[in-house]
Amino acid sequence: MEKTELGVNRIGILTSGGDAPGMNAAIRGAVRTAQCMGIQCVGIRHGYAGLINGDFTVLDESDVSGITKRGGTMLYTARSKEFQTEEGLQRAVDTCKYMGIEGLITIGGDGTFRGALELYKRGIKVIGIPCTIDNDIGCTTYTIGFDTACNTAIDAVDKLGDTMQSHERCSVVEVMGHETGYLALNVGIATGATITLIPEVSYDFDKDVIGRIRTARLAGRTHFMVIVAEAMDPVQTIAEKINQATGIETRVTALGHVQRGGDPLMRDRVIATSMGYRAVMLLAEGKNSRVVAMDGDIMIDLDIEEALAKEKVFDMEQYRMFTALTFLDKGILR
Ligand code: F6P
Repeated sequence: MEKTELGVNRIGILTSGGDAPGMNAAIRGAVRTAQCMGIQCVGIRHGYAGLINGDFTVLDESDVSGITKRGGTMLYTARSKEFQTEEGLQRAVDTCKYMGIEGLITIGGDGTFRGALELYKRGIKVIGIPCTIDNDIGCTTYTIGFDTACNTAIDAVDKLGDTMQSHERCSVVEVMGHETGYLALNVGIATGATITLIPEVSYDFDKDVIGRIRTARLAGRTHFMVIVAEAMDPVQTIAEKINQATGIETRVTALGHVQRGGDPLMRDRVIATSMGYRAVMLLAEGKNSRVVAMDGDIMIDLDIEEALAKEKVFDMEQYRMFTALTFLDKGILR
């Protein structure tokens, strides 16, 4: 194939790790941009496992038609153990070379970027796109899928709130988030939950759970909503302890993988499409080893090693606000 002034002539795209609403929009954004640039696009199925096994499909504009609005990922996704071995990595590099893939767009979370970095060290050009419902990636203020997942959880919690009100019960709801509480806190704020338990804030069960429920009850509340990030104690245990200490009837719901599904909402569609576009443009410009990220409302890109080294900064003020607005404790914000 004759070289043009483009940084790459043929690129691969894969999705890896847990899926998130918006992955398809990112794929379409990248494929259509590549088409416009005269770059060939290859979809790699099942994440890095597909790269090892040569599970490819050539993608053109019609293959990605109508997928922006769909949840999941048309390329499937996986977490590959083999890719974490030297042999697996080498096989992935070999298949890239065999298939003429000069640049690779990897859509996923931190683990996906760590994999991309290993490929870069072995001579493959890589660009990462942050996509996880957890919003737990240090280098970006937003990850594709977060908004849709929050809204799915909010809808479920609102519905649970209706039946908790009728029966004057306490609902203890587990939400995803891996080791973080971004999803839980945002759901707690958006639903006006009684309590949100997240790993970023330590808590004393008697004071911060039982004490707050008692305070809320004294203030006239008859039903209660406790949102628990999955990294915390099991919701069953928390619910039993609340019941024993207060006598309030409790019910437990683990929202689970329902939070990962569904059609992406506007924010995820637009950011995913724009990140797919940006990733291809970077490769076309000859850039390598970059992660596309959001800095507030601004889209940026940064070096993948620098991106991986960044720690997520938890917004403690947001948590403080949540607590204050729930308990209306005079002086709490002073
Ligand atoms: O990272 C996304 C996520 O949904 C986390 O919130 C959760 O901890 C994990 O993936 C669940 O993974 P699996 O799909 O392997 O059950």
